[in-house]
Amino acid sequence: MEYDRPKDRRHPAASDDASRRLLVSLGGDVEMATATAVPVRQSGMSLSVAMVAVVAAIGGGLFGYDTGVISGAILYIKREFPIDNATEGLIVSAVTAGALAAAMFAGVLADRGGRRVTNIAAGLVFATASLLCAVANSVPTLVAGRFLVGCGIGLTSVGGPMYIAEVAPPRVRGTLVSLFQLAVTVGILLAYIACAILAPVAAWRWMLGLAAIPGLLLAVGMLFMPESPRWLVRRGHRTDARAVLAQIEPHGDPDAAVAQMERDLAAEGHGSWGELLEPSLRPALLVGIGLAVFQQVTGINAVIYYAPQIFQAAGFTSDLTSLAATTGIGVINVLATFIAIWLVDRAGRRPLLIAGVLGMIATLGVLGLAFRANAGGTGTSSLAVITAFSLAAYIVSFAFSLGPIVWLMISEIYPLRNRAQAMAVSTASNWGANFLVSLSFPLMASRLGSSATSFTYAAFGVVTLIFIIAQVPETKGKTLEEISRLWR
Ligand code: BGC
Repeated sequence: MEYDRPKDRRHPAASDDASRRLLVSLGGDVEMATATAVPVRQSGMSLSVAMVAVVAAIGGGLFGYDTGVISGAILYIKREFPIDNATEGLIVSAVTAGALAAAMFAGVLADRGGRRVTNIAAGLVFATASLLCAVANSVPTLVAGRFLVGCGIGLTSVGGPMYIAEVAPPRVRGTLVSLFQLAVTVGILLAYIACAILAPVAAWRWMLGLAAIPGLLLAVGMLFMPESPRWLVRRGHRTDARAVLAQIEPHGDPDAAVAQMERDLAAEGHGSWGELLEPSLRPALLVGIGLAVFQQVTGINAVIYYAPQIFQAAGFTSDLTSLAATTGIGVINVLATFIAIWLVDRAGRRPLLIAGVLGMIATLGVLGLAFRANAGGTGTSSLAVITAFSLAAYIVSFAFSLGPIVWLMISEIYPLRNRAQAMAVSTASNWGANFLVSLSFPLMASRLGSSATSFTYAAFGVVTLIFIIAQVPETKGKTLEEISRLWR
């Protein structure tokens, strides 16, 4: 299918005409006449595609912010509500439980209601949940608010990448879906910064409540975005799908694109949940679930959630230096994601994944050795420096590989009919593994020690590498329909 490749270089007037086409908005079958001309950038990516990616990525920002903010907020929540360790764990992990539950529900919503509706729902849930946390005057209300925040994260982690992937042209799909991960990393960094700024006044309610603003922005912004053309075709709204394609790909051939999507849909199954168990979907599901789980069991959130403690174990004894080092990790995480944005559609997914996971294995190995040498806290300052550098290099390796590419690949490898369900299952596996790693890390670190814990994550890294080399296909530059045909 060639709609995305600019073969048909029509006169600008023709693309102007195309971009004035009816914007499919509410629910996908109401055509709203608008006279919005959509300028086409030199790169061949229309402004509306860029807007779609940016607005949907706000959900990624909230995902990052809400997972990062609790580490600072919990210190002050504990001062206001006298809570034991178990309740503290509940407040922190309620988000993960909500994300896990809502990821499955997001599959149903994205399938029945549409990709756009899923993102609007995510924004509304984020806004409501953040306000609930901000005004909570009892622990159960706070736990409920945090669970609801998790639901927003579950909805956006399925709805965001899937929506961007289905709207983006293949040549820039990797870059655009990686924007979602960039937003996750920016969200984490903003959470560290918000906590640092609000800590002197112990304003935990503001820390949690601030997320209501981007939540509303996401919901309102998505109202103005078009529905995914692929979902429209799947629901039989051919004319609407054609109008969206003409809007987002003014140089393409929307008729050919729609016809190709219809042919592919006809060759796929019926789109039921039961089909996920069928042999034809197995290879794709294995790759999607495998990548989602390996992203977590290689230890990323042990670092993201527990960085200050890790730095203290490495010899950065003062609160200030360990917090400064943690903010440094946040900045590096953001910056290194740009490597993926730049290379993912040029070098491809596999080379970045392989290089990144190799880097993670090496840095975890060095970390393991450094922690062993520093056992008992008697190490030298050069050991602390080696630890800090290894952690930074580990984050860089993750940020250009497993970080963005997992969300990208689980949004692009599944056939259209089962995409929403399969992505929901993969995302839920990601959150399940996230939950287990964040729960087990403190236990592993105290029972096995930091050194053995690092070696354990390195061992998972080796398994991840073998899995990628043996199972993960290259999807660079292919249309979503071409990728589906790979499995058939
Ligand atoms: C992962 C998160 C992680 C974040 C760190 C995301 O891709 O899914 O679990 O906290 O990257 O940047």
